[in-house]
Amino acid sequence: MPIIKINNNPISIQSSTDHSMLTDLLNAGIGYPYECVTGKCGLCKFELIQGNIIKTEENPTGLSSRDLKKGNRHLACKCKLNSDLDIKVKLDNKFIQKTKISKIRSSVISKELLTHDFIKITLKPDENMSWLPGQFCLLSDPLLPSIDRAYSIANNYIKDGHIDFYIKRVPDGIFSNHIFDKINIDSTLILKGPFGHSYYQRSNRKLLIIGGGSGLSYAASIAKQAFSEGKDFLFYYGSRSTQDIPNWSSLVFTNNEIIDIKTVLSQSNNEWTGPTGFLHEVVNEDLGASLCEFDIYLAGPPVMVECSIKSFFDQGVPSENIHYDSFY
Ligand code: FES
Repeated sequence: MPIIKINNNPISIQSSTDHSMLTDLLNAGIGYPYECVTGKCGLCKFELIQGNIIKTEENPTGLSSRDLKKGNRHLACKCKLNSDLDIKVKLDNKFIQKTKISKIRSSVISKELLTHDFIKITLKPDENMSWLPGQFCLLSDPLLPSIDRAYSIANNYIKDGHIDFYIKRVPDGIFSNHIFDKINIDSTLILKGPFGHSYYQRSNRKLLIIGGGSGLSYAASIAKQAFSEGKDFLFYYGSRSTQDIPNWSSLVFTNNEIIDIKTVLSQSNNEWTGPTGFLHEVVNEDLGASLCEFDIYLAGPPVMVECSIKSFFDQGVPSENIHYDSFY
């Protein structure tokens, strides 16, 4: 078992060839900072004082050119443990993982188009995996070694343990195109997870759920948990155009009920009679200062998430009431 000295405190860590150094540290109960787990956000950066690591990606985008020049800055999500280490990093208890991170084989048990470029797949893991609503996993396919992608889980944990993902086709995206074109019923996919801190937390405040584009996955997971607990909520979904509105009947909730979703389109057209414009502006128009009464959960493209958070702050919503998942 390697010994990692973090800020001069030695800790012995169970390392696994299946996992990144970040996952080993999180599974050891350490409050190690992270967000994306894909080498992009830079939050898991550490300073290597002594020891050797195995890098799984050269020059990840989460390291600046200054970091690369220094040569002793690395990302814990993009390396594996190889020896005893001495590192410096700022830990924070808020990052302590509530669920064990595992690597599990799973079979595809259903595949259904939600729109022309949005698909729902349901996986049956070989072993039980529990997660919190709003968490995400890394998905990979043994046929595409060394490629994995982070996707939000789209359902809450239920006894059958099936896991839904809503996946958007990315033009030129190797993995999303593979899911659309090559993955079939009974195909094998590998799950790593769950990750993420923006999960649903019970409270007495009102609940507002906002999803833009493929942020629908995260939003649906939160909504399904709230629904299962009998908690009322408002649900806004932002889409580009009418052809991008999902087939809501595929997003059935407990007891075959479908929740009331307010869809906002960014591009208006003649057939559309619902709201158009920026999603956060419509939410602000509808709810105004009453936003302070809500716990807000939102996910979507980074610009949408940033604009929404700023507008909620302007309304006086405290940061601890805003939970978000921004894509990288
Ligand atoms: Fe490692 Fe984002 S968590 S770069």
